[in-house]
Formats: sequence, structure tokens, C-alpha cells
Amino acid sequence: MEVNHINAGYESENGYISVLKDVSLTVNRDIILGIAGESGSGKSTLAAVLYNSFRYPGTIRSGEVIFDGKNLLKMKPNELRKLRGTEISFIPQAAMNALNPVKKIRLQFYDMMIAHNIKENDFDSKISSSLELVRLQENVLDNFPHELSGGMRQRVVIAMSLLLSPKFIILDEPTTGLDVMVEHDILLDIKKIQRTLGLTIVFISHDLPILFGISDAIVMMYGGEIVESGDYEDLLRNPAHPYTYQLLKSIPLIGTKIDSSMIMKGIAIDFNHIPHGCYFHPRCNFAVPKCSDIHPELKQTDGKTHLYRCNRYPEWSRNAKLEAIGT
Ligand SMILES: Nc1ncnc2c1ncn2[C@@H]1O[C@H](COP(=O)(O)OP(=O)(O)O)[C@@H](O)[C@H]1O
Ligand code: SF4
Ligand SMILES: [Mg+2]
Repeated sequence: MEVNHINAGYESENGYISVLKDVSLTVNRDIILGIAGESGSGKSTLAAVLYNSFRYPGTIRSGEVIFDGKNLLKMKPNELRKLRGTEISFIPQAAMNALNPVKKIRLQFYDMMIAHNIKENDFDSKISSSLELVRLQENVLDNFPHELSGGMRQRVVIAMSLLLSPKFIILDEPTTGLDVMVEHDILLDIKKIQRTLGLTIVFISHDLPILFGISDAIVMMYGGEIVESGDYEDLLRNPAHPYTYQLLKSIPLIGTKIDSSMIMKGIAIDFNHIPHGCYFHPRCNFAVPKCSDIHPELKQTDGKTHLYRCNRYPEWSRNAKLEAIGT
């Protein structure tokens, strides 16, 4: 998938609020691309744009999403319907809470297959193989959603997304709200399924340890912009943007005291009051006066696939204590 120059936001009583600003990225085949950023950084907005399910008051002002050579944003509703589920699946944030509460799980699987004109004879075999992938027993089919635990409901949602064998899946915060152990098991299963089936996954999370644990490549978002992207090891070992660095440094390591100077100060960006210059400057530990004037462009580091948006890289990183990261 090639995402080119997306500008998108929301209409409001006070006019258009710009959220995504010139977002471009590539999702290579057969990898997990992680999209990270605090709450409110525009991740779910981006996810909806990638699936072309972004609706009013959401507005896409410009840009394209090329999937297998075709611009998803220009597809007619019937073309999109054919593609969804079969080629590309999307599990929106909190999808497990959006299962129909008054329908047993089996009927919810059936509905999806009916909508895609699957032959009735194939229903049971398709359901069995997708349940097997997420390690659920068939007896869940006779339950209502509320009769299942959160982890099981999330597995049902993942099974549904796999039902029609898509090759590309977008998962928006798929494990948020689950117990740590349940979350851990589901993440391992997602990774295993991705490797076994050769899927391409866009995995969105605000939780950096989770994201770095599962992803092959990472995109960091701040204030609706991409501020850093590249191979996960490059970002982990040599973060080029202070936002990535400060977030990584704020993750507590077992047995160590938290370095309070590295706890991220301030709150996520208010899209009604975007700061001048670098959007991150009010919270950046390495800001200098020019940072509040000059809005940094996205540039390449020496490693060609590693991009960053900072006026002061690599200068700032020489003074930073990098050795603790990733150990
Ligand atoms: N339905 C909406 N109407 C108006 N503004 C919205 C709406 N949904 C999200 N936003 C705005 O878009 C920003 C980004 O939201 P979102 O994409 O959900 O971020 P994330 O998924 O990273 O938490 C929010 O801070 C909010 O200001
Ligand atoms: S441009 Fe300045 S404020 Fe922005 S991230 Fe770089 S050092 Fe920090
Ligand atoms: Mg979100």
C-alpha cells in the first residue's frame, strides 16, 4: 500500500479542523507496520482513511491510498464492498464492543459470509479454519458476545477479519483494555498468524513496548504528522526524533528507577491550537529558540529507510544518553 500526501480532518461548528497533514507512507508486503503515537495523535483517523471508511464529519481534503495499484479513495461503493473482507480487513478501535449484542456469534459469522455471497456449503469450513487460527473452540459460536471474556471477544473479531482470507489487515488498538497476560497471548497469535499466512498488517497502538514487540517497521505520529519512521531496530537503537527518544526513555525497565527528567511533559496536541514551528517544541527536551519558528521537513538519515522530522538531528542525539534504550 502506498499512501500519498493525505490531508484529512473534521468539519466542526468553527470550521475545518486539520488532523492529518501531508501523511505519506509505504506498507511493504508481508510485514507488520506499527503506527505509534499518543492518544489524539491521529492514528484512528489514519486507519479509517486507509480503509476508506472515513465519513462525515471526517473529510479527506487531498491525497491517495494506492492498494495493489488502485486508489482506494476513488473506488465506487460496489468495488470497495468486494475488496473489503476478501482483500483487506479492518478491525476498528473497540470493535469487540461493537459485536451485535443480541445475535449469537455463529449468526454474526453467517451474516458476513452472506454479505459476500459465500456458498452456504462453505460456511462451516471457513468458520472452523478461522477459529482455529485464533485458537478458539467452536462452542463460542453458540454464545452471545456478553457471554464471552474480553480476550475471547477480541479473538472472535480477529477470526471474523480472517474469515475471507484477506492479505492485508488493519488493526486499531486490538488489545487495548485487555489483561496483560491475555494481551500477550493475543499478540503472539497475531504475529504467528501473520508469519504463517504471509499477511501484511498495519498495527496501531499507543503502547510503545507492545508496538516495538510486534512490528517490523514503525511509524511515529505526533500532531497528525509522521515525525519518524523506519525499521523498528533503527528507531529503537538510534531514534532520530526526540519524541521517539523521550517515549522510549520513559518506559520503566524492571529493577531500575524511573528517570523523572525523561517523563514526557505536557499533553497531546490540541488541533485547534497547533504550535508554530515544530509541533513538538513545547514538550521537547532538546528544543532551541529556532524550533518555535521553523517547521521541520521529513528527512532521511544515513539509513535510507529511516526518516525523521527534526531541525536538530543528529545534534541533539550527541547529548542524549542513548545507551539505556533497548537494553
Ligand atoms: N468525530 C470527530 N469529530 C471531530 N474531531 C474528531 C473526531 N474524531 C477525532 N477527532 C479529532 O481528531 C484527533 C485525532 O483523533 P484520533 O485519530 O482518534 O487519534 P488517536 O487514534 O491517535 O487517539 C482528536 O484529537 C480529535 O481532536
Ligand atoms: S525540531 Fe527542535 S523542538 Fe522539534 S523535535 Fe527537533 S529539537 Fe525538538
Ligand atoms: Mg485511536
